[in-house]
Amino acid sequence: MTTGASFDTLRWEGDTDGHLTLLDQTLLPGDVTYIECRDVRAVFEAIRSLRVRGAPAIGIAAAYGVCVGVQTASGGDADSLFARLDEVTSYLASSRPTAVNLFWALERMKQRAESLRGTASPAAIAEALLAEARAIHDEDRRMCAAIGRHGAELLSDGQGVLTHCNAGALATGGDGTALAVIYAAQAAGKKLQVFADETRPLLQGARLTAWELQQRGIDVTVICDSMAAQVMREGRVQAVITGADCIAANGDTANKIGTYSLAVLADAHDIPFYVAAPSSTFDLSRSCGEAIPIEQRGAGEITHGFGRQTVPDGVSVYNPAFDVTPARLIAAIITEQGVIRPVGAEAIRNVISKSNAAPDGISRDALASGSLGRVSAKKNRGLTPRG
Ligand code: MRU
Repeated sequence: MTTGASFDTLRWEGDTDGHLTLLDQTLLPGDVTYIECRDVRAVFEAIRSLRVRGAPAIGIAAAYGVCVGVQTASGGDADSLFARLDEVTSYLASSRPTAVNLFWALERMKQRAESLRGTASPAAIAEALLAEARAIHDEDRRMCAAIGRHGAELLSDGQGVLTHCNAGALATGGDGTALAVIYAAQAAGKKLQVFADETRPLLQGARLTAWELQQRGIDVTVICDSMAAQVMREGRVQAVITGADCIAANGDTANKIGTYSLAVLADAHDIPFYVAAPSSTFDLSRSCGEAIPIEQRGAGEITHGFGRQTVPDGVSVYNPAFDVTPARLIAAIITEQGVIRPVGAEAIRNVISKSNAAPDGISRDALASGSLGRVSAKKNRGLTPRG
């Protein structure tokens, strides 16, 4: 299945002895450069340093990372393969803490291997793992398309739409989540004016969203994050749509830092604030936003962003990469299963718990309880996987 994008955010090349190729997003928009990840460390580094980023894309990259990681063990015995799988999944789980798609994908990979324990050879398990990673990738493409279809109904011709960070093809295996809605609305003949928040400190909106919208011929205007209130007050925006990194059982939603303030501003200006996300971004084991871990990133992203010192030496910096928007500020959550509105625990449970089962019918809640050995970043302490 193809997307409308003229680039591949990520792709697997070859068979079980192949590798993961990624578009290095840290170099956009200036350079379109692909990197080859031939060992699990390279995949970890690419996720950690945001060469590949966006919750669904992180999950897909991690699934392929497992395939790369088990290559060294697929010629040995089954015990070595399962030991290596544990090591690799724990290692990748420690790359970034907030995007739940990462843990979801790693759990799926582990469960696929578990389902073959005792019945298949290590080589056959490695093949099944690659098939599972490809399935995660393909499913994400389809989920993006469905999110686009459902969400396009919410937008009207001539509207201004504000988005934050990048929730497009660069962040997923398909056309994106928030941006899929915009692509689908445009394809349905609705002309939109998109405002892309610059998205401090790493500028995913200015560097990535503006780049991919421009590639697709969508009218896009970049604004500094601090300009959103003024743009809304001037009546230029009729809807706000963002993606999500983790949606708790009650609808509280973690997304790129600055999303919460946009939702508050949208509320103050009576503008609907929508979240677009696949079911793999929900974590029903987390009752509310307080329970979502927020990634803290290095001070250098703020003090020396893009090569120039902008903060005096010795000054403290606080750099949370995500914030949580309370469910009450979200007009609707657009999923591949349909639009959840009003946003609340019961409506979410009705839509998501059915679509969110892990392979073999094991529920994510069971995985989350730890009874099935949920992939956990904590387990990685002290482990240093080989190539
Ligand atoms: O730090 P990033 O660039 O990985 O943050 C990405 C976001 O916040 C996206 O909005 C989110 O992952 C949704 S991607 C469809």
